[in-house]
Amino acid sequence: MKSKILQILNEHCDTYISGEEISSKLKVSRMTISKQIRKLIEQGYQIESSTKKGYRFSSNNDVLIKERIIDNLHPFFYDIETMEKISSTNDYLKTLAFDKQEGYVCIADYQEKGKGRNGRSFYSPKQKGIYMSFLLKPTLSVYESLKITACASVALWEAIKKNYQIDSKIKWVNDIFIDEKKIGGILCEASLEMNTARMDYMVVGIGVNVHKQIFAKDLASVAGSIEEFSDKIISRNQLIKDILNCFYKYYNEIDKNTFLPIYKEHSSVLYKDIMVYEKNYSYPAKVLDIDTNASLIIEKEDGSTLTINSGEVSIRKIQENDF
Ligand code: BTN
Repeated sequence: MKSKILQILNEHCDTYISGEEISSKLKVSRMTISKQIRKLIEQGYQIESSTKKGYRFSSNNDVLIKERIIDNLHPFFYDIETMEKISSTNDYLKTLAFDKQEGYVCIADYQEKGKGRNGRSFYSPKQKGIYMSFLLKPTLSVYESLKITACASVALWEAIKKNYQIDSKIKWVNDIFIDEKKIGGILCEASLEMNTARMDYMVVGIGVNVHKQIFAKDLASVAGSIEEFSDKIISRNQLIKDILNCFYKYYNEIDKNTFLPIYKEHSSVLYKDIMVYEKNYSYPAKVLDIDTNASLIIEKEDGSTLTINSGEVSIRKIQENDF
């Protein structure tokens, strides 16, 4: 019932529709409609009501609406499931991975246990961000899988640029920063066929901090949201659509590596002095290049070169005593 009401309000965009009209469309009483709308408002949907005119979405609402996302979306993404809350969209999609074809998308308004890389959590407060995962069945080997993460980073970079004219930075391999603040990240998880080192499936999870939010103390100095950097009205539906369309553009020609020039041009680590963090130790290095698999080619302090395709890196700040 609630999703049908949301759909009707969405079809009427910013114009009012009377309670009577909604109730006759859904064949329920006006009392039921008014109760359901009250519940939706309690859940955070910004719906204006006027006794004379009826109901409409507030012009500044940013409700996730499937119909708005699929309008002009590439048919590769053939089905989109939106949900109010879930533990983690990545975990949920993994449970469906063998039953669904590639291109299946799930998007949640809130994640109770959003996951980041390396066992970290991803803060996913209600209606403040984009928490979405989609399913792929790539024919790539596991060694080439980093390319997919890189395509997703480029898609996020390009969607932010298109909508808000902001030049963000891509921090290897999958974090997006605006002015030193992390505003999004990507977590790809795959199931492997051990004999061939090919993937049965891959779940690409994208998290973006969209609206202003209060971050916990440990995140406050490093995390930010797009809204802090833009005066524009932000539509998660539009941003999601652009991220997905853009991702498909690069994924579809992944063998031609068309994502790579953009990935390199907006990389925050290319040619920089960095620290590389392995499981139990770290070491300084310089980034010489990013190869076609999106791996980092680095030079260690002893002059040897190395290609790394996992782990964490950070940009080394110039120390005062370096001068
Ligand atoms: C990172 O910053 O380390 C990666 C963050 C990835 C977060 C997204 S939100 C949607 C999907 N579901 C999850 O649990 N995680 C990813």
